[in-house]
Amino acid sequence: MKKTVHLTAILLLLATFLVACRSSTVSETSTSAESEKKMITVGFSQLGAESDWRSTNTDSMLEALSKENGYTLIYKNGQQKQANQVTALRMFIQQDVDYIVLAPETETGWDFVLKEAKDAGIPVIIVDRRVDVEDRSLYSCWVGSDFELEGTKMAAWIHEYTQFKGIADEDVHIAHIQGTLGSTAQLGRTRGLQNAAREYGWNILAQESGDFTEVRGKEVMSSFLRQYDNINIVYCENDNEAIGAISAIEAFGKKVGPDIENGEIMVVSFDGINQDAMQYLREGKISCIAECNPLHGPRVQALIEMLEKGEEPEKYNYVAETLFSSVSEIKSITVGDKTYDVDIVK
Ligand code: AHR
Repeated sequence: MKKTVHLTAILLLLATFLVACRSSTVSETSTSAESEKKMITVGFSQLGAESDWRSTNTDSMLEALSKENGYTLIYKNGQQKQANQVTALRMFIQQDVDYIVLAPETETGWDFVLKEAKDAGIPVIIVDRRVDVEDRSLYSCWVGSDFELEGTKMAAWIHEYTQFKGIADEDVHIAHIQGTLGSTAQLGRTRGLQNAAREYGWNILAQESGDFTEVRGKEVMSSFLRQYDNINIVYCENDNEAIGAISAIEAFGKKVGPDIENGEIMVVSFDGINQDAMQYLREGKISCIAECNPLHGPRVQALIEMLEKGEEPEKYNYVAETLFSSVSEIKSITVGDKTYDVDIVK
């Protein structure tokens, strides 16, 4: 009898032990499965690394979509080639990522691959520049700058300034270094300038792409200077081009600055993230910079969080931006019925 009691007790203990072991294994597995499930996989296709703006933008994205924030990020640099970006997107689709984030180089040519993402049920968020596709349902939403407004504000600043200096519109001779042709940043900033040139009768002497890089900015400016001796304003579509253009102007023996009635060549630009450009702004070598904000990482993160909760974000999400200038006389500009303050940088 005693033996039977003992045996029963041992069996009971063993059973309890086995149940305990099993439930601990199950709970461990479910804990790791839960945390696995919580990680969101994102494929991010960045267009390249052409400018300081782009490096800051990439850093912002990598920081926001980090492991600590619950993301498994697959990052691909397109090296300034749309074909590389398309290949990256197809790879993300094969890997069945939860979201695709695309910073496209140029606007056109995305219909097929975005359709493939849609068919695979993967939401796509477009960041910075836009895509020009027939079916807008191919992407969930976009976040970035209003590039045309940036250009329009810059043109309004040039108009204010030349008026203030008493320079007639027909004496405004602009050399225009464009960004990467076909990119939203180029198209918008170019439109902003061209609309104003048409309205005021400014003379755009020459237009050529500097591909948003310092090297090309310098090359293009050197060539403009050899062809035209009456340039008084250089409209660069980003700060890296402006830095290149300034070095070309100085190498040519001309002075850079806002004093155009005394022979200086005035440089204006976009971004406001490059520290050398900001220093040039303080020194008066760049007269005005229209801000282009690159810190889209947290914005994309917020959009993904909304989609995760089943909410529908706004289709187009614009970032508010300012103008920086060291010309203290122009304190604000007006576009349509809106007045924008200029941030005077000293
Ligand atoms: O699309 C944003 C633009 O791209 C920035 O103004 C420029 O610097 C970058 O390369």
